[in-house]
Amino acid sequence: MSETAIEIDGLSKGFVRHAAGERQLPVLGGFSLAVAAGECVALAGPSGVGKSTVLRCLYGSYRPDAGSLRVRHDGAPVELVGAPPWLVRAVRRRTLGYVSQFLRLIPRVPALRVVAEPLLDAGVIEDAAERRAGAMLERLNIPSRLWDLPPATFSGGEQQRVNLARALAPAYPLLLLDEPTAALDAGNRAVVVELIREARQRGAAMIGIFHDRPVRDAVADRVLEMGAHERAA
Ligand SMILES: Nc1ncnc2c1ncn2[C@@H]1O[C@H](COP(=O)(O)OP(=O)(O)OP(=O)(O)O)[C@@H](O)[C@H]1O
Ligand SMILES: [Mg+2]
Repeated sequence: MSETAIEIDGLSKGFVRHAAGERQLPVLGGFSLAVAAGECVALAGPSGVGKSTVLRCLYGSYRPDAGSLRVRHDGAPVELVGAPPWLVRAVRRRTLGYVSQFLRLIPRVPALRVVAEPLLDAGVIEDAAERRAGAMLERLNIPSRLWDLPPATFSGGEQQRVNLARALAPAYPLLLLDEPTAALDAGNRAVVVELIREARQRGAAMIGIFHDRPVRDAVADRVLEMGAHERAA
């Protein structure tokens, strides 16, 4: 059994619904999952069950109500719940990649730079960062004539591929993938399947949400069906 890279224990999260008279809407109630290095776990289950919420809690975008989120960072487990912001930033910079369904657009920044930025943040020198960013954009079939343009005007599928290039270029040991192929054609879906398999091969631990069944079957070591029992009562 290889080492645990991500350990979610008793994660609970609800949202206050202002429209419902400040009522708390429970989403996750005691969700647990452990992912080993080199393993890809797919979260499945009906829309609204809380799949994206699990990823957003792990990435530090949502604050959990209860539970523990431990990730292997710089060779040792660290607790993310209640972690100081500098630690969350360090984990994002060196350890944890996240592909959201939509690119968070950075205005006026050219595509090549959008992809190179996390590499530069991690201390890679400019030349090497741009070479690696270009190689990743090339693999994802973004033509080089687009590299100098900001992705704001790109098609949905092009934006998603820039987003993927940005998250996959640094070779993070942990990856969170929220419907990474939703806007892609068959050819590009196949490229993403290859990239995910390569990440698994080099030992990355991944949690993914894949609506596309063939993609899920091609990359997931196991599928976790989320349902009523994950829900808070
Ligand atoms: N920021 C938020 N504020 C209020 N409610 C939220 C927020 N984020 C998520 N929710 C609610 O939490 C529930 C779970 O949302 P989540 O996005 O995790 O679902 P999902 O399983 O990813 O669904 P889908 O398959 O449609 O993407 C939904 O009912 C959603 O409305
Ligand atoms: Mg979702």
